[in-house]
Amino acid sequence: GLPARVTIWEVGPRDGLQNEKSIVPVEVKLEFLDRLAAAGLTVLEATSFVSPKWVPQLADAEQLLDGLTRRPGVRYPVLVPNERGLARALDAGCTDIAIFASATETFAQRNLNSTLDKQFDMFTPVAAGARQAGMDVRGYLSMCFGDPWEGPVGYEQVVTAGQRLFELGCSQLSLGDTIGVATAGQVEGLLAAFGAAGIGPERLAVHFHDTYGQALANTLAALRCGVSTVDSSAGGLGGCPYAESATGNLATEDLVWLLDGLGVETGVNLDELVATSAWMAERLGRPSPSRVVNALAG
Ligand code: HMG
Ligand code: MG
Repeated sequence: GLPARVTIWEVGPRDGLQNEKSIVPVEVKLEFLDRLAAAGLTVLEATSFVSPKWVPQLADAEQLLDGLTRRPGVRYPVLVPNERGLARALDAGCTDIAIFASATETFAQRNLNSTLDKQFDMFTPVAAGARQAGMDVRGYLSMCFGDPWEGPVGYEQVVTAGQRLFELGCSQLSLGDTIGVATAGQVEGLLAAFGAAGIGPERLAVHFHDTYGQALANTLAALRCGVSTVDSSAGGLGGCPYAESATGNLATEDLVWLLDGLGVETGVNLDELVATSAWMAERLGRPSPSRVVNALAG
């Protein structure tokens, strides 16, 4: 069976924009967020409190949150890697954060200047401090299926790293196919491996990049396994600057088209969302990679 309702975790403002070379004005980011909320999305990953040297596009995180009109019923999670980031998120009045770990050694080095083991030392005080402050903490795990430097990644390695994020107090774990190489059988296999370790689909989310055109098929496989939180990016924007060959996320429009067709509730108005992504594509100066945006934007 399929879930009756899916929560879409919209990552366009964060994952979507973090890889953009030219800095998007904060006013445009704010309008993007407001239009996404107006289209019915209820979780908007707004920005990251990371080092501005590492991700210059999101150096305006304070300004962004300062200018943000928070809509009732909408959550605005932010990425936080370390205690410095947590202090910034607290100052900005955030209530939801996400820590982001790597399932592989090489990406822990490339993305966090850390190691597979040491990244958890960095996250431990972040998660503890956030929970003490009453924040919700999501955990991300990257390179869950394949790594551009290390090749295929084994299920046990992923489950072990995921368990460590739950031990830190994460309420949900998002399984990242950072470079978009997974296929549907692997998705079922990994979810089964989590299940065997006592971690069911209600505590998991999926985060697919669409590099090989598999994101939607992989999402359907995950939904059939009982996952009901799906990460996606309006217009299919995105990519990680520290992961070779990562393209955009699953496009939210492609996801909503699928879920509408299946009769699975999302609360999202597809026309408003498409208009928003078409508008954003104009701001960025190139067409959206989303098939559904191109089919409907006219
Ligand atoms: P580092 O260079 O080892 O750390 O980076 P450092 O402590 O030496 O700091 C370097 C400089 O940054 C210092 O400034 C710090 O003060 C400053 P300086 O003294 O040279 O002037 N700094 C900060 N400034 C503001 N806020 C902070 C902060 N921390 C340090 N929080 C670090 C280590 C973890 C900071 C760095 O590696 C980093 O920021 N990494 C983040 C990279 C990133 O954001 N990647 C994209 C997100 S993950 C992703 O996209 C995957 C995901 O979508 C899931 C998937 O697809 O798989 C989630
Ligand atoms: Mg990502």
